[in-house]
Amino acid sequence: MSKLLVVGGGTMGKICAQAAATVLGAQSVTVLERTVAHAEQLQKELDVTCITSLINPPSERNVINYATIVLAVKPQDATTALTQIQSLTKTALIISIMAGVTLPRLAELTGSSRIVRCMPNTPATIGCGMTVWTTTKNVTVDDQKFVTQWLAQFGADLWVESDDWIDKATAVSGSGPAYVFAFATDLIKSAQALGFTTEQATRLVQQTLAGAIQLWQKTGTAPETLRDKVTSKGGTTAAALKILKTTRMSSLWEQAVAAAYARAKDLQNHV
Ligand SMILES: NC(=O)c1ccc[n+]([C@@H]2O[C@H](COP(=O)([O-])OP(=O)(O)OC[C@H]3O[C@@H](n4cnc5c(N)ncnc54)[C@H](OP(=O)(O)O)[C@@H]3O)[C@@H](O)[C@H]2O)c1
Repeated sequence: MSKLLVVGGGTMGKICAQAAATVLGAQSVTVLERTVAHAEQLQKELDVTCITSLINPPSERNVINYATIVLAVKPQDATTALTQIQSLTKTALIISIMAGVTLPRLAELTGSSRIVRCMPNTPATIGCGMTVWTTTKNVTVDDQKFVTQWLAQFGADLWVESDDWIDKATAVSGSGPAYVFAFATDLIKSAQALGFTTEQATRLVQQTLAGAIQLWQKTGTAPETLRDKVTSKGGTTAAALKILKTTRMSSLWEQAVAAAYARAKDLQNHV
């Protein structure tokens, strides 16, 4: 049976393990964590096996040969985590979700020639994520088939040609949920400033965002057109949009996304 190891059982590692359990069956999936306390906690939450050592129980010598290894630790923990599993990585299909760690660097760290680099986002927790991914050229058709099935559990996916496109997508869809939540937080505060309670303001903003996104998705109409449909000349929306224009909001967004892209590139110097 094809076995899969997830290294790091944090926010994203848990999603990776659950998705793998859906595709391969829970008995084929193991999560490797750093501390016993964390592994025990995870074991209560997940159906898969959670361990802190590859030799499990510690008295036994034989280590399972995992066909696929998912790297879900923070980039700065990658070197330490990989030292623990160095005997396994060379022949495995390596899937990394770590921000800023490129395919050449992953090849160097793992010795594997079959590597997939993915950038999911947190809505993957509820199967509504957006994942971009790329591969080394040695990844087989069967590897790609598995990755496609696995990523389908996260939500939608987009294959891109190179590491650079992953870094660019990191700045858009990887960090994107945080941009939406930052906007939601500010809009809730603005509603509170008008006198709404937190509960009322949250409800107004949440349903407005959900409804607007669904309208966009279901009609397939460009967002600019949908915006213009709400904006009558001299009306309330026009008054609000005028303020956003004078504060050069769209240029601020361009700067913010460029800063995230630059940071994704910069992370490469620290792994
Ligand atoms: N969060 C996002 O939105 C997002 C989106 C896309 C990609 N990513 C990428 O996903 C990766 C994980 O992010 P995350 O948000 O899930 O981080 P996280 O919640 O901090 O999870 C990382 C996990 O790795 C564990 N760990 C650290 N060193 C380890 C080792 N040597 N062996 C085994 N486990 C070890 C940590 O354990 P302890 O807690 O005990 O230290 C922690 O449980 C990052 O590389 C990030 O770039 C994140």
